[in-house]
Amino acid sequence: MIKSAYTVTAALPYANGPLHLGHIAGVYLPADIFVRFLRMNKHDVVYICGSDEHGAAITLRAKKEGITPQEIVDKYHTLIRDTFSQFNISFDIYHRTSSQLHHETSADFFKKLHDNNQFIEESSEQYFDEDFQQFLADRYITGTCPKCSYANAYGDQCEKCGSDLSPTDLINPISTLSGKSPILKTTAHWYLPMNQHEDWLRDWIQKGELNGELQHDPKAWKNQVIGQCMSWINGGLKPRAMTRDLDWGVKVPLTNADGKVLYVWLDAPIGYISATKQWALDNNKNWKDYWGNTEGKDRKLVHFIGKDNIVFHAIIFPILLKNHGDFILPDNVPAYEFLNLEGDKFSTSRNWAVWLHEYLEAYPTKVDELKYVLTAIAPENKDSEFTWKEFQSRINNELAAIYGNFVNRTLVLTQKYYEGIIPAPNKFSAEDLLVLKELQEIPERISKNIYEYKLREAQAEMMNLARLGNKYLADQEPWKVIKIDEERVKTILYIALQITAALSVASFPFIPDTSKKLQKMLNFSSENWTDLLQKEVLQVGNKIGEVEILFPKIEDDLVENEVAKLQNTKN
Ligand code: MF3
Ligand code: ZN
Repeated sequence: MIKSAYTVTAALPYANGPLHLGHIAGVYLPADIFVRFLRMNKHDVVYICGSDEHGAAITLRAKKEGITPQEIVDKYHTLIRDTFSQFNISFDIYHRTSSQLHHETSADFFKKLHDNNQFIEESSEQYFDEDFQQFLADRYITGTCPKCSYANAYGDQCEKCGSDLSPTDLINPISTLSGKSPILKTTAHWYLPMNQHEDWLRDWIQKGELNGELQHDPKAWKNQVIGQCMSWINGGLKPRAMTRDLDWGVKVPLTNADGKVLYVWLDAPIGYISATKQWALDNNKNWKDYWGNTEGKDRKLVHFIGKDNIVFHAIIFPILLKNHGDFILPDNVPAYEFLNLEGDKFSTSRNWAVWLHEYLEAYPTKVDELKYVLTAIAPENKDSEFTWKEFQSRINNELAAIYGNFVNRTLVLTQKYYEGIIPAPNKFSAEDLLVLKELQEIPERISKNIYEYKLREAQAEMMNLARLGNKYLADQEPWKVIKIDEERVKTILYIALQITAALSVASFPFIPDTSKKLQKMLNFSSENWTDLLQKEVLQVGNKIGEVEILFPKIEDDLVENEVAKLQNTKN
């Protein structure tokens, strides 16, 4: 059977600050689990990410830090890239939108749409800061939201009620540059007439149909994603400017466009394509094998994003891709809700955050522990919360007490009774057969959940394997049976060892370092999901290696220190 090829993207983070746990839990980690699982199932997959280096997010940050936009993106691109790598996120490429290749790719894309008359050029009056001699789009302007009266809405969006805005919608607009009220001045831009695309978008989003053909299963999309898209579309899509008056970004590739750059939300998603091109160049591949809409190919594009990115990935980018004509559209847009921290929203400005690079510096050996906790609490369908207390209890009561404990007991007993050699089983009892059946069924449930983007569920099922093993040992009590029936203990440990091996394979997508450590202890290696379907994963007669503790206990003082550190930011 030919398996679908996947292009999996994780939202390009703005290179304007470090990553915090909220970013990780709701985009990069779920995408990483999904991708590792696909690779284990021998799908052809490419996992794409990179820094988003344009837009007001960057230039405003540069202004704040008193350095140039280029210095800002260099600084944070490096920090973010290195943090991802230390956290063992398995991107095939971590690219950047300031690269030459990206500038060319996005400029060509714009040009093609422009030449096919897919934009409308229009002059209008826009806010302008006289002191700074600059037009004020997006985050350069704040004011009161006309929908919810929130006082600090941005020119493109109200972060309170989530409404999509344009600067002229704001009540009492204020320039974020000078702090003064702006004047109005005429300027020309190229608009994407989104209003002309409502009909096909409706069919595509609700029914998964494009040009009358089924493209994806709409039931596989999260309700919130479909709901948000439909509310946008039913509210009426408006033409949206695809260019900006700024000097930082991809230059508009037309002759009458001095001082204009592409809108960051036009260029950034095209960053997924340029990153794929760069990866293909580096690896002797053809990027069109991943993005091309040639017939008869089973290619899937999946965008992992946060919920504030839904409109860009499920409406605007698909319009652009379809208009261009050469590309597939996303098969799914798994969007995550937000993660909160100790009772409050993550906030960069208030420094209410756990920064990933700081965590890694403090706890370099606890990468998988954090991954496990973040997946267990991932904001899959609603907002969720990270607390250090729960971090501790999940590690101590689940990873250490269930996974670690089961592995340790099994391996220590194998060393003790059989000098580490995997014993041959005798006849299986009725209980044994039930356990062996579960051992086959749990991986199937994990698999089903992952294909359905239910990664929390999937990880919980993975832990059920360890629970199965723990319960089996507790029920069978090999340490007692050894005194009366040595032959029976061989069967018990044989089965327990098969469970540890299955656990090492099944946990690879979630806690890859641990999986490898455990495999080293078992003297076995597999990143192949189908090994889980084998009756015997570990071979009789093989000798296991040295036994190590997988998850040291998290002490109370770690929790107290971390909570105190956070509370201090409030003073
Ligand atoms: N930088 C954006 C954010 O952090 C995400 C960009 S995703 C892409 O919200 F598609 F545009 F690349
Ligand atoms: Zn609002």
